[in-house]
Parts: sequence; structure tokens; C-alpha cells
Amino acid sequence: MQATVIGTGYVGLVTAIGLAENGHEVTCVDLNAERMERLAQGIAPITEEGIEDALRLNRERLTFTTDYPASDLYLIAVGTPERADGSCDLSAVEAVARLIEETSPGASVIVKSTVPPGTTARLQDEHPTLRFAMVPEFLREGTALADNRQPSRLIIGTTDATFAKTVEQLFQTTAPVVVVDPTTAELTKYAANSFLAVKISFINEIARLADAVGADVTEVAHGIGLDPRIGSAFLRAGAGYGGSCFPKDIAALTTLARTHETTLHVIEAADRTNEAQLDYVLAKIRPERGMRVALLGLAFKPGTDDLRDAPALRLAERLEQLGVVVVGYDPAARTLLDQKPTLEEALRGADVAVIMTEWPEMKAVAPELLTRVMQTPRLIDGRNCWQYVDAPAGVAYEAIGRPGKEF
Ligand code: NAD
Ligand code: UGA
Repeated sequence: MQATVIGTGYVGLVTAIGLAENGHEVTCVDLNAERMERLAQGIAPITEEGIEDALRLNRERLTFTTDYPASDLYLIAVGTPERADGSCDLSAVEAVARLIEETSPGASVIVKSTVPPGTTARLQDEHPTLRFAMVPEFLREGTALADNRQPSRLIIGTTDATFAKTVEQLFQTTAPVVVVDPTTAELTKYAANSFLAVKISFINEIARLADAVGADVTEVAHGIGLDPRIGSAFLRAGAGYGGSCFPKDIAALTTLARTHETTLHVIEAADRTNEAQLDYVLAKIRPERGMRVALLGLAFKPGTDDLRDAPALRLAERLEQLGVVVVGYDPAARTLLDQKPTLEEALRGADVAVIMTEWPEMKAVAPELLTRVMQTPRLIDGRNCWQYVDAPAGVAYEAIGRPGKEF
């Protein structure tokens, strides 16, 4: 088949690669000319394991352009950011739908962007010459290619059985396929992200109580996760969730619910708990004006250079407001204020180091390095990941919901 993917960011690019791996001819379109030129040379705009190899192996089936080609089949993967009022900004999706109708009336369109329930049905009403389906994306950054190759399920939002078959042939998966109406597909996507965020905030609250009573939250998570009704995934307590999706999707869903006079109490509470979790880490730092804090890890999670809504950046902002000097180090993401210190330079002279992203390098930061270069060897483990917990060798160590060790 031939397909045109519009929007070549995380989702668009990874989807295009997946389709090319399935043998389809894919044209990728984006407004960002520099991004497309670099992609044509095989240079990926994002950090994802294996992405440049995949671009090279599939280069004959991938074309990158800034022009909208005529096509029978489009996939929309442009951004749907948060508006100031919390609602979802659909302007890019709407602009793309209009352009598709002008370029290729009669085309089939698969919406991959995360859009609020009701959006695809509305697009269908506004563009009757096109045929829409909503196929939500569940990939995670950092493991995007692997998630794309082995998805947990394929949700196809269309009431048109022929179109549903086309979508199945396009994605060719052995995962369970669920065909529903577009609005149900849209709500499934938001419900999935919200549920995962609720799990994280739940364990973060338990972590705070674990600190108070002297229990170990990692063992609690292990203990409850063995119950298959609960499951062990997404129970890692820490500095809270960030990224380009959970915060904005929760804002979009709770805002939409309120327009329907419905309050999503549990999901709104998860969001408040997530905010409070950052205050909790801040309090552990015991910030003072003039203090020097090294943030170890800036990306919102390991394996990516994505800084969108990263907890580390939000913490840096709060610390700077309190007159604290912040130095950030990350193996992949560009660093704060365009500084590019090495790990050792970031730690040198610091009063406190805070692990904000559980990169392998952060897990393995040697106690010897901390005692040698820091002003005071204090480590706050915002991801409960440091591997020297049992032998901190001169380091004052504090985690989130795990008993600390003093020297
Ligand atoms: P992104 O910001 O990485 O990429 C979006 C791309 O679309 C950019 O390259 C931008 O230049 C391009 N674009 C914007 N308007 C355009 C237009 N009119 N024509 C052509 N190109 C245009 O975004 P992303 O992270 O890939 O997210 C895309 C969508 O997928 C969002 O709705 C997001 O919520 C959803 N999603 C993202 C992830 C993820 O892990 N990042 C996972 C699942 C779903
Ligand atoms: C998330 C979902 O996991 C994907 O399924 C979804 O497709 C995507 O959002 C999306 O819609 O964009 P992603 O944001 O890439 O993927 O990363 P996650 O692995 O979900 O992590 C999100 C945040 O939660 C990170 O800041 C991470 O540190 C935090 N987290 C995750 C925890 O604090 N604890 C956990 O146990 C798990």
C-alpha cells in the first residue's frame, strides 16, 4: 500500500518506519523543512534506540517532504498541545484535514494524534468527502520502535468494516484488534493514559506514607504488584510523571468532562498529587538561597532527549525562584541554560545532588565521586534507582518512600 503520514515527530516518524517495515511505501510530510532535509540524509530528529538503523534499512520505502502530495490514504500525527485553559488545541489537526480535502477529496484518513472524544466524528461531518478512522497510538518514548513493532493492542475506531480491514492490513499485527466507533477509540486513549497516571500518583502517595512510618515503598509496590488484578507496572514511586502526554491529556480530559458537567475526581486528584510530589522532593532538598544543587537527569524519562514538561525542569524553576544555583546534567537532553557540563562538573561543589531521571549512568554514580567532588555529599534519589543504597560510603542518601542512610 501507499500511505502519507502528516506530522513527522515521535508518533509520525515511528509510525512511518513501522509501515515501511511492513512493506508499504510511505511519504512523510512536515512543516519543519530542516527536519525533513536531515531525515532525508538518515538523521533522526529524536533520540530513540535503533531509529537511525531503521531509517537506513527502510530508506527505499520512506520519502520526506514539506509538500502535501495527493494520496488515497493519510495518517495524521501532528501535535495536539494544551491550550491555556487546559483544553486540547486541535488547530493543527483541523488545518491538516482541510488541506487533505483540498488535495485529495475522497481520501481515507487515519487520525493517530490524541484527540478528545467526539473530534473524529466532528471532522467527518465537516469533511464529508473524506473517510475518517481514529487509531490511537500507545507507544512510549524511549522504547518507541519496540512498542510500535509489538503493540499490546490495535484499537480501530471506525464503523466502516471495509476501512477497518484496510487499517488491519496496514498495521499487520498479531496483537488483539478491537474495532469500535471513533469516539470510543478516542476515549480509550485518554482512559489509558489517565489510568497510568493514577497508578503513579497512587504509589507516590503510598511512598510519602512509607517515609512517615519507616516502610519501603519499593517492597510495597512489589507486594501489591504480584496480585494480577493490580499488576506491577507503573508503580515506581519518585518525583512524579512528566512528558508531552500525561499532563496535557489529563488536562484535556478533565476540561472536556467539565464541559459535560462531569467531574473526574480520581483523575483530577492524580494530577494534584503529581504537583505535590514535586513539592515533596523540593522539601527534601531543604533549599536555601545561594545553595548549589546538581540535577542528575533532565529528560522526563530515560532513553529520550525529550524535555517537554520534564519534572527536572519544573523543579529547577522552583529552586531558582528560591535563589538556589542549579546545574543540570543529562546524557541526552540539552542542558539547562545551554550549559553542557559533564556529570563531574555538575556535581563539583554541589551541596545536594538530586537524581531526576533514572538513566543507567545515574543509577551507577559512584559514592566515591560524590564524596570527592561535592561540597557536601548528599544525594536525593528522586527515582529510587541508586545502586549503592546499601553501601553509600560517606554519602547522606535519601529516597522517596525508602528508608535513607546517613553516612
Ligand atoms: P511532535 O511535536 O513530536 O510532532 C508533531 C509534528 O507535527 C512536528 O514535527 C510538527 O512540525 C508537525 N506539524 C505540526 N503541524 C503540522 C502541519 N500542519 N502539517 C505538517 N506537519 C505539522 O508530536 P508527537 O509527540 O509525535 O505527538 C503527536 C500526537 O501523538 C499528539 O497528539 C500526541 O498526544 C500523540 N501521542 C504522542 C506520543 C508520544 O510518545 N510522543 C504517544 C502517543 C500519542
Ligand atoms: C505514555 C504512555 O506510557 C504511552 O502508552 C502513551 O502512548 C504516551 O504516554 C502518550 O500518549 O504520549 P511516555 O509519556 O512516553 O508514554 O512515557 P511513560 O513511560 O509512560 O512515562 C511517563 C512519565 O511517568 C515519566 O515521567 C516517568 O518517569 C513517569 N513514571 C512512569 C513514573 O514516575 N513511575 C512509573 O512507574 C512509570
